[in-house]
Amino acid sequence: MAEDRKEILRMEHITKQFGYVYANRDVNLSVLEGEVHTLLGENGAGKSTLMNILFGLYQPTEGNIFVRGQKVRIESPSQAVKLGIGMVHQHFMLVEAMTVFENIILGDARSKGIFIDQNARRREIKELSEKYGLDADLDQPITELAVGAQQRVEILKALYRGCDILVLDEPTAALTDQETEGLFEIIKKLKGEGKSVIFISHKMREVLRISDRVTILRAGQTVETLNINDVTGEQLANKMIGRELKSSQYSKTDGNGEDAAVLDHVSYHRNFKHNGLNDVSLKVRHGEIVGIAGVDGNGQSQLAMLMTGNIAPEEGSMDLKKSKVVRFDPSGFIEQNVAHIPEDRNKAGLVGNMSVADNLVLKITKDKRFSDGNGLRLKKKAIHNYALQMQKKYDIRCSSVDQEARNLSGGNQQKIILARELEAAPDLLIAVHPTRGLDIGAARFIHDAIVKERDAGCGVLLISADFDEILEVSDRILVMFEGKIMGEFSGKNPPIEEISLAMAGK
Ligand SMILES: Nc1ncnc2c1ncn2[C@@H]1O[C@H](COP(=O)(O)OP(=O)(O)OP(=O)(O)O)[C@@H](O)[C@H]1O
Ligand SMILES: [Mg+2]
Repeated sequence: MAEDRKEILRMEHITKQFGYVYANRDVNLSVLEGEVHTLLGENGAGKSTLMNILFGLYQPTEGNIFVRGQKVRIESPSQAVKLGIGMVHQHFMLVEAMTVFENIILGDARSKGIFIDQNARRREIKELSEKYGLDADLDQPITELAVGAQQRVEILKALYRGCDILVLDEPTAALTDQETEGLFEIIKKLKGEGKSVIFISHKMREVLRISDRVTILRAGQTVETLNINDVTGEQLANKMIGRELKSSQYSKTDGNGEDAAVLDHVSYHRNFKHNGLNDVSLKVRHGEIVGIAGVDGNGQSQLAMLMTGNIAPEEGSMDLKKSKVVRFDPSGFIEQNVAHIPEDRNKAGLVGNMSVADNLVLKITKDKRFSDGNGLRLKKKAIHNYALQMQKKYDIRCSSVDQEARNLSGGNQQKIILARELEAAPDLLIAVHPTRGLDIGAARFIHDAIVKERDAGCGVLLISADFDEILEVSDRILVMFEGKIMGEFSGKNPPIEEISLAMAGK
């Protein structure tokens, strides 16, 4: 197909430097009309940077961009929009205080004046949302929307502004399988209309399914562009990391350690189904990994919040290391050596305008190694050296540990949180979607690290919407559905069929 289609976009010899760091180095990308073109690369390979250049958020240090054969300079997102380029960012950019409608028309050139025809706008948006099957309640504030719904608003916004090239930067990272199916339907529709989609994802199964062609980036450079029909997932993964990844196989334990945490008939908003807990009893022992399988949004978030002291049960009780918890507050739990890899890393995990180093020691500033013992008078040098050590150990790719955390690539921000939480040698680890957004190699590293913590005696509760991940590392598997525990299964030769049925509430 590639031969007879017109090229709509060409990025030529693109180089982008941030200080000493080359985020992109002589990158070439050619996108055809009506194709889904995937950018594949490790965390920090330069995918988002290249797309931010295309969307006018950054200026390339060198290189040229051609749209429909014309050389262009894209100096701002509004210029990109004029050229027919739309982008859904890796981290959502919606204004939370506003409604869906206000967000969609925000920045639309036609709504600059005082008088905008609200009703006409609404009608247009409604038509679009029906055409593409993008459900959205226009008057709802963004804060009330689940991640999947926010994603739909972002796409609707890009489509409303009118685009023939739509960039989707890791759109499926936080979507349920069902929502991903919905998104793929939209992508197919766009493709059918001759529009081009540039797709970014670390999930190989998706990449193989939706792409026409794939361009691989490694360390800021283009490796090659391939037709999806000419390669296997394994070949793609190997080209992406530049070496062969051995298949993994973790040992499973029978878990006869002491109880690290016990929930006894716990309920919280018990009738809420999707964000409540209904009579949950479970146990996490030292030295075992308990996996919570289930479709996202069946009470998993509440389970994690409760077990890290962020919410208190309305009924039932929790024991931590064999004593009853009387006060549910996060700092008390941290003192009890409970570590937490949170679901929403941007809100709960990282302080974006602090440095990588400061984020790494965020919870241990009172440690004698890093201050006078009460978190004042920080020992800058010691913190710096510790950060360098962590950077190496967790392969955090940044130009310097003094760099602001928000400038790191999505996956590398994630590694900071993992380093901080795992290094605390926790007694109990509540890990929520720990490898979301990580490339294949980094995800493997995290699995190794979690298993190592287990072997050192940590009790691990692993909550993940990635079924493969649950199967791979869990010693015991519990299934959650509508706030309830539907069943318990051994992690050794788990009955996949049965677990899948339980996930669907059967
Ligand atoms: N504003 C910035 N200042 C300094 N360095 C930056 C900035 N933006 C990106 N970088 C660096 O450029 C490199 C590429 O980052 P980029 O976000 O493009 O990676 P990515 O391929 O999207 O990774 P991921 O899969 O983790 O999202 C990283 O090393 C990152 O730290
Ligand atoms: Mg990125």
